[in-house]
Amino acid sequence: MAISRAVAGQLDFQQVLQRVAGEIRALISYDHMDISVIFADTRDCCVAYEVGVTTGWGEEKEPKPIEKSPIRQLLRGEVDYILTGDAWQDDRFHFEGAFDAPIYEARLHSRLHVPFRVHGTIHGALNISNHEKNRYSDQDVATAREIADLLAPYVYAVIRSEEAKKLALSEGAARGREEALRLGALRLTEGMENERKRLGMDLHDQTLADLARVSRQLAHLRRQPTLRSSDLAELDHEVATCITELRRIIEDTKPGILELFGFSQAVEAQLERSVVSVHPPIRTTVIDNTASLLDSGPEPLRQTLFRIVQEAINNAIKHGRARRIRVSIDTCATDLSICVEDNGMGPAGEWDRSSGGVDNMRVRARLISAKIDFVRSAIDGVTRVAISLPLSQLTDSRDDVQDETSEVSEVIDEAAVHADPRKDLAAQ
Ligand SMILES: Nc1ncnc2c1ncn2[C@@H]1O[C@H](COP(=O)(O)OP(=O)(O)OP(=O)(O)O)[C@@H](O)[C@H]1O
Ligand SMILES: [Mg+2]
Repeated sequence: MAISRAVAGQLDFQQVLQRVAGEIRALISYDHMDISVIFADTRDCCVAYEVGVTTGWGEEKEPKPIEKSPIRQLLRGEVDYILTGDAWQDDRFHFEGAFDAPIYEARLHSRLHVPFRVHGTIHGALNISNHEKNRYSDQDVATAREIADLLAPYVYAVIRSEEAKKLALSEGAARGREEALRLGALRLTEGMENERKRLGMDLHDQTLADLARVSRQLAHLRRQPTLRSSDLAELDHEVATCITELRRIIEDTKPGILELFGFSQAVEAQLERSVVSVHPPIRTTVIDNTASLLDSGPEPLRQTLFRIVQEAINNAIKHGRARRIRVSIDTCATDLSICVEDNGMGPAGEWDRSSGGVDNMRVRARLISAKIDFVRSAIDGVTRVAISLPLSQLTDSRDDVQDETSEVSEVIDEAAVHADPRKDLAAQ
């Protein structure tokens, strides 16, 4: 009755054993007691749980092969019980590969083993040992059998609950892996989507503009009565540059001059390249009044500003029929400003009648918390794209800026509704 009360509600072998240890000792004295448990998923292995002296049997909770157990005959159901007066001398416990060292280490001489049987299947064994020789009798075997029969249903219940726990854990782990995979795939998709948008914008701002220039040149050549080889060489050069730039975009390299020589040099180079084949010629100026302040700022910021200026230049050449383009970089107490001006005829309609470029510029500006304005002044006849960036953006750590740019993928998503570069490319 005491044993029953002690184990009721226990769902852990060690606890079951601790609770009944005293009650069993009142019935059979022992120096070492353990239970061997066979789980359904590893029927050829068993795990030992000990009370009192701990030995190599109970220290490791990894299942050990029944074949190596000194009581393998009992666990395999070949015998009903094992009783010995001196386990040190009993050959049943000692064979090639037997895990019998604890018998010597814990000085276990008398030993008594009975199985836990439920529905005719052995689920483990109750093992009782004593330092003295010949301590146990047939009467003790009968008592041990009664104790084991009493404990067997509890042992069986605990085995099932342990198995359910293991199953729940492995299902949880599988669900966790599934969730991790799902999240990974989602992030990959998001990353690819952002990369696609970035590529779309780069293709628009660079390659599309290059091809448009080639197309204008071709149209110009078509109108000529005769073709000079120098005209074709110029065209050839344009196409080669276009291929190089396209390759650069594909390889995701940064604008080389921007990286090597800094912002205003890169803008200057861009201007020169863009107007080289324009007829009639366009005069260009770049004025940096900030002592290259931008070059000390974070690189993603510089690249974004460069792309904005690049499109402003492309637009000035394409739409305004400008004769002069001027890019200036200035600072005031709080902001850095970049102004792209042209003396062309200004937009025929609305700026927002955009097929991509102006929207891309706005998106890029939002990426770096910059303000962008498009102004046509009737007073001086100048078309202006004015970008203004808080100076704090330049001193922010690189990580901060990158954090912000990742936050901005949401802004891109939102803006992409209005300025999908694919639509833009398709329209062209
Ligand atoms: N510097 C400028 N001078 C005159 N009009 C301009 C200038 N910049 C932009 N625009 C006007 O704003 C409109 C929108 O420009 P946006 O760059 O979005 O498109 P796009 O240049 O026509 O096409 P894409 O950018 O795809 O080559 C242009 O169609 C044009 O009418
Ligand atoms: Mg444009």
